[in-house]
Amino acid sequence: MDPDHIMQVGMGFFASKTLLSAVELGVFTELALKTDNADGLGNRLGLHERGRRDFFDGLVALGFLEREGEGSDAVYSNAPDSAAFLDRNERTYIGGILEMANARLYPFWADLTEALQTGAPQNEIKVTGRPMFEELYADPARLEQFMHAMSGISAGNFHALAEKFDFSRYQTLSDVGGATGLLSTIVAQHHPHMSCTSCDLSVVRPIAERACAAAGVTEHVTPVDLDFFADPIPPADVVTMGMILHDWNLEKKMHLIRAAYDALPEGGAFIVVENIIDDDRRENVFGLMMSLNMLIEFGDAFDFTGADFAGWCREAGFRDIEILPLAGPASAGIAYK
Ligand SMILES: C[S@@+](CC[C@H](N)C(=O)[O-])C[C@H]1O[C@@H](n2cnc3c(N)ncnc32)[C@H](O)[C@@H]1O
Repeated sequence: MDPDHIMQVGMGFFASKTLLSAVELGVFTELALKTDNADGLGNRLGLHERGRRDFFDGLVALGFLEREGEGSDAVYSNAPDSAAFLDRNERTYIGGILEMANARLYPFWADLTEALQTGAPQNEIKVTGRPMFEELYADPARLEQFMHAMSGISAGNFHALAEKFDFSRYQTLSDVGGATGLLSTIVAQHHPHMSCTSCDLSVVRPIAERACAAAGVTEHVTPVDLDFFADPIPPADVVTMGMILHDWNLEKKMHLIRAAYDALPEGGAFIVVENIIDDDRRENVFGLMMSLNMLIEFGDAFDFTGADFAGWCREAGFRDIEILPLAGPASAGIAYK
């Protein structure tokens, strides 16, 4: 027995905040433009002398940077995965989710204890009294940041879904809460016979239209306005929801599952992409922490197990349910009508 694990988790915020600040400051984007020594890079980033070497060498020790040489002449560069995923100028950039974590979740998680004691959300609503999505939609810059954050976290899962799920039996897809239209875009790119509709609130549609035009999929993907608590879901062979159910309480989850059922033909598939928790609730750490994050964001919203999903879908009338592992902690829950 030793206390290593306790200390690693307990002080884990040291490492976490070091990476989040590096993304915020653009360390990886700068180094992709030009490798540099500590003073050169520190000057380019506007950092005080005191912290420079500790910061850069800490990032070396964490595996995010590489360093050639010792002392003040040593030259820093990006580690291969940092170069691929943390350089803002790369198409594969996933830092949006880390920018959002840095700007919002990191300060909100400081109040986790209060959330646990009260069951109340600890995000913007504490200051403004307005729910999170309303708050985001009132501020276009923040909305765009959130949409890019979602794309960063979801892209790998959507590619895995497009590769693993058999779309050959289907022609049409409605993606509910589709944000930038990324799920539809990736499905259409992998399966050009599919015709996809990406449905989200009207303020989101221009963002989706721009993203679909940039991806060259406008013939296969149509962004439309939908308020999923007021409007029926556009009928399709496949209805998808990426990270939607976990945003809501059980009553609203059931509303969405029933709405998906109504939109599908016999044999149609309802697919959710989420960090589905293992049925024993012992292993999927990220899924369990994400559920705590939903407490922080919404209070009564929560993540769920595959068995929970199967039970709700059977109650709504679905026939067969399966869980398909995707990337990392995420899975697809699939229910057939
Ligand atoms: C957590 S994001 C998920 C985005 C995307 N599906 C993904 O997996 O990356 C939730 C999405 O639901 C949308 N949304 C929230 N309330 C909605 C409503 N009442 N009707 C339609 N969309 C809504 C938001 O605009 C946002 O795009």
